[in-house]
Amino acid sequence: MDAVQHVFKGTFIHSTTSCDCEIIENHILGTDHAGKILFFEDAQKQSILAQKWGFDESSIQELGKNEFFMPGMIDTHIHAPQYAFIGTGMERPLLEWLAHTTFPTEDTYSDVEIARNIYDSVVRRTLKNGTTTACYFATIHTDASIVLADITSRYGQRAFIGKVCMDRNDAYEKYCETTEDSIKETERFVEILKGKNYDRVKPIITPRFAISCSEGLLTELGECAYKYDLHIQSHISESPAEIKEVSKLFHGYKNYTDVYNRNKLLTNKTVMAHGCYLTSEELKIFRERGASISHCPNSNISLCSGHLDVRNALSHRVKIGLGTDVAGGYSISLLDAIRKAIETSKIIFMERSKNGRDNNEIGNEKKPNGINGDAQIGSMETENNFKVLSYKEAFRLATLGGSEALSIDHITGNFKVGKEFDALLINPEAQDSPFDNFSHTSREDLLQRFLYLGDDRNIKAVYVAGRCVVPFPKNT
Ligand code: GUN
Ligand code: ZN
Repeated sequence: MDAVQHVFKGTFIHSTTSCDCEIIENHILGTDHAGKILFFEDAQKQSILAQKWGFDESSIQELGKNEFFMPGMIDTHIHAPQYAFIGTGMERPLLEWLAHTTFPTEDTYSDVEIARNIYDSVVRRTLKNGTTTACYFATIHTDASIVLADITSRYGQRAFIGKVCMDRNDAYEKYCETTEDSIKETERFVEILKGKNYDRVKPIITPRFAISCSEGLLTELGECAYKYDLHIQSHISESPAEIKEVSKLFHGYKNYTDVYNRNKLLTNKTVMAHGCYLTSEELKIFRERGASISHCPNSNISLCSGHLDVRNALSHRVKIGLGTDVAGGYSISLLDAIRKAIETSKIIFMERSKNGRDNNEIGNEKKPNGINGDAQIGSMETENNFKVLSYKEAFRLATLGGSEALSIDHITGNFKVGKEFDALLINPEAQDSPFDNFSHTSREDLLQRFLYLGDDRNIKAVYVAGRCVVPFPKNT
């Protein structure tokens, strides 16, 4: 076993660049001591592989009959400090919610011990729910943000950590920095994290959103990202009131995207949350820059912000991942994000179908083909070719799509040889499983049921770069 750390045998389900959901049965996957996938081949080759890689066949860890591995899920947008009030305070729209609930809570993270307690909980909870990579917003407080980085690293989660930057906050004045401090503290944060040399935890430049940043701050953060070659995250086009405010604050810019673009904040390492109202012109800029969108459907609905038309964004060839946006979104689980992404797509479909019918009634468009204009139900496809998101596509968004959105698809996202082994061992028949299976259930339906009905009770183990991080080791 010299070169090899783990050898697993059984079923593996993942997405590839050409297939949203590939089910690979009776395969053997081996990892090395750095957590990389060394080989992934048909189990018929077991003896040859054992010889080639020098492992003992008795050391193979064989999966149970209905168990399978899937790639770890990637949360491309989550606010760690907001875990403190998850599932509460959801009665206000975005800007009111920020002023009333979010800013006062985040302000308390000047106290590092408050931060430590919540950050420990959010990292444990996300990992247990299968989030192997998380792209976190912290708060404006550098020391507390470093605590979040330490905790993610100790638990072994792959993470981007953003010290939040905001030099403008009329809604809650005390939760704000000067422009100078925001830059200085960002550089201090980046330097400290660099010095820590974590394997899989990285800083990310984090202007909160255009409303809370001066033009000067955006410009300097763009330069800082360039200087250190860093990832960038923020929010964009989440709600109508927000967009209106941005247009009031930023004169001389064409649109919201232009504000970030002209300040060098749209790169191929940028992930922007929401994007519900991005125009075709803006999506084209995203595509040109290689920037991505974090689709946060729970939050979009919970804060009554709007919907992202994933199909349209994908047709513009913009990279898309899923985000929980805790605590604008009330669920920590990417499984929930998968479900809400599908449901959002169906809502858009129904709206379009209804409009089609309405248009029909007033005689503007030709009748949809089918009985009473309801033909879409069978195929879930409208005349203008709108197809609802399938569970396989949503599965891809939560895994490979997320890795593409964060530009780490050369490292993680599926079970390609050479990538790091970030994986979930799923047991659809766990003793306390929240759903039932019947003898005739196909492998595909086991996956589908897990995605629609499963939860952390079905996640038997979580691996990040070959290290088993759930069940939690005794020393964490
Ligand atoms: N826009 C600016 N800050 C936030 C935040 O914390 N959550 C969400 N959903 N949108 C934001
Ligand atoms: Zn957010």
